Amino acid sequence: MAMTNTKAAALAVGFIFLNLTCVLGGLQYGFYDGKCETSDVEAIVRNTVFSEFLVDQTIAPALIRMHFHDCFVNGCDASILLDGHNAEKTAPPNLSVRGFDVIDAAKAAVEGVCPGVVSCADIIAIATRDVVALSGGGRYTVQTGRRDGLVSLAENTIVLPAPNASVSSAIHTFASKGLTATDMVYLSGGHTIGVAHCSLFKDRLYNFNNTGEPDPTMDLGLLTWLRLVCPQNATVDSTANLDQNSSTSSTVDNSFYTQIMLHRGVLQFDQELALDPLTQSTVAAIAHSDDFNTKFGQAMVKMGAIQVLTGEQGQIRKSCRAINL
Ligand code: HEM
Repeated sequence: MAMTNTKAAALAVGFIFLNLTCVLGGLQYGFYDGKCETSDVEAIVRNTVFSEFLVDQTIAPALIRMHFHDCFVNGCDASILLDGHNAEKTAPPNLSVRGFDVIDAAKAAVEGVCPGVVSCADIIAIATRDVVALSGGGRYTVQTGRRDGLVSLAENTIVLPAPNASVSSAIHTFASKGLTATDMVYLSGGHTIGVAHCSLFKDRLYNFNNTGEPDPTMDLGLLTWLRLVCPQNATVDSTANLDQNSSTSSTVDNSFYTQIMLHRGVLQFDQELALDPLTQSTVAAIAHSDDFNTKFGQAMVKMGAIQVLTGEQGQIRKSCRAINL
């Protein structure tokens, strides 16, 4: 049946509206299309990330965490990459952030064919999307057009949630970044891969809340295992997988949620997500559904738009580790 003019007009308006709503915080899909002559910026980043991933798959959790820590502190402006005496990367929550060399390699590859055009902040966002896909997660479409910030101060990392943050305080922190409690629960699925250092959850094993006892909410099998990984008087700060399902601890999937429902969360915050009435039902819904990959991607896109610099703001750094003089 032929479409009436009214219907066609309505569809056209709908299409324009859809496209407008796709622009988040001044970012857009395909921002670099046509800006680097024949070079496909996202493909260059993807190739670099892929080569690095083949050598070391743990760059996946490293970059996902880097993106989170960048976006929450001053927005997604690559401030976490800047070197300096009192820069963000010198602050305690960032001392175990890794992957700076991967971003350097991607930046060098991009600058080699298209100098001064692609921001370090976008490279983090693109590289993170790529490692999520390489680790079995969904491949979401990343928005670009971020510019790089000029400021990086250790004290600004105070906003990053502590490993024992309460659910309500974390909801408050995420809300201050424009993210809902549901976004927070999906984004906490970042813990579907990667590790945590014993020093950040050891109190739960031996002296929870100064009781001299372990955290009573922890599954006994997990407690026994984690005490082996993290002996009380160890001199080395070992690590344990955040997703305690050993067959999926390096795969981006929803098994993390099943684990925390079984009281097998390693970080206190993760365990609380499954116990707190504010987030319990969302955790259960994610554990029982098959849309985690899609929703995680959507939440990552939303996180990637926090307080971004666009247009003439900030700059496009030549080196991700220093501002242009
Ligand atoms: C919501 C509150 C959050 C808290 C309290 C939290 C806390 C932590 C802590 C304490 C670690 C272990 C760090 C270490 O031992 O070196 C960690 C690791 C990690 N976090 Fe989070 N995190 C949160 C949210 C997120 C979000 C939103 C993401 C990403 C979307 C994320 C991604 C990761 C990843 C991938 C790792 C593993 C890093 C690696 O293996 O190198 N986290 N997180």
